Amino acid sequence: MKRGLLALSATAATLAVAATAVIYGGLYDISATDQHLAPTYRILDVAMRRSIARRAAEIVVPPLDAPPMLERGLSLYDAHCVQCHGAPGVAPEPFALGLTPAPANLAHTAREWPPADLYWVVRNGIKMTGMPAWQFRLAEADLWAVVAFVEKLPELSPRDYDELTAALPPGRAQEMPVRNRPDPERGKTAMQQYACVTCHRIPGLVGPNAPVGPPLDGIGSRTYIAGVLRNEPDNMIHWLRAPQDINPASAMPDLGVGEQDARDFAAYLATLD
Ligand code: HEC
Ligand code: HEC
Repeated sequence: MKRGLLALSATAATLAVAATAVIYGGLYDISATDQHLAPTYRILDVAMRRSIARRAAEIVVPPLDAPPMLERGLSLYDAHCVQCHGAPGVAPEPFALGLTPAPANLAHTAREWPPADLYWVVRNGIKMTGMPAWQFRLAEADLWAVVAFVEKLPELSPRDYDELTAALPPGRAQEMPVRNRPDPERGKTAMQQYACVTCHRIPGLVGPNAPVGPPLDGIGSRTYIAGVLRNEPDNMIHWLRAPQDINPASAMPDLGVGEQDARDFAAYLATLD
């Protein structure tokens, strides 16, 4: 028994040393040109699909066949998805071709996945890939409209897609609904989808925490925002949605933050004191 335990801890220690050597020695090739081993790819793919299927199991799918819904889905797809996923006869943009993993061909996905799984992915995105969570950019009805359209992709020829998009009025996303009560926890989650941590250190968020903008530790108890605006919820919301309104020369970009998201961000930032 004792010898077994000793052998086990010796093995664990050896593995830990080997892992440290691989990580700190820079032995792992992180380049996008170094493809996964086939078993690694397979494991990641199965883990993704199982994770999605499990989380989508309870979703109730609304009717997806109404023509206005399909037209809306087409215009949203053409505005937000085609750059990465392509469409019949349309290649993804150059930046998307080299993503690892490469964005899937969704005509193929639509044949294989149930609509609830498609909806879950579009809503929540996929960690460690370039797939964003669209719940922060598209209203609920729009998420379903995109899914409805993706379901139709396998039936479309390149010519169909071309003709359909040529006939489209310029598409505008539906206004995101505003709930009344700001929700700091939701704000914290949504912040990850606006790349705030690429420029700020924000307590509670994991990321590069780069000091491009000021660290936001203690922002809840500061008197001013960006040195000029009294730190009150409405001012914070205004700042987050349109920093150039307040300081035209500010390096903080307008990230297209939705009204609800800004309220939730402000609520989260107010907790940082
Ligand atoms: C910035 C690029 C990018 C954009 C924009 C994007 N996606 Fe993705 N998407 C990806 C990547 C990367 C993956 C993960 C790899 C993959 O496809 O499995 C992915 C995965 C998916 C999947 C799972 C597919 C599968 O078979 O694994 C679906 C469904 C999906 N995206 C739908 C959409 C829809 C609908 C939109 C538009 C609202 C969209 N995506 C916008 C990059 C993007
Ligand atoms: C591209 C970098 C960049 C991104 C992305 C960015 N910010 Fe900023 N932010 C800045 C800079 C630079 C400033 C300082 C601007 C100034 O004072 O005019 C700033 C200022 C701020 C301030 C005021 C800080 C203070 O000390 O008064 C807040 C609050 C803030 N940002 C929140 C956010 C949130 C929340 C996000 C994500 C939704 C975000 N920022 C995304 C660069 C960025």
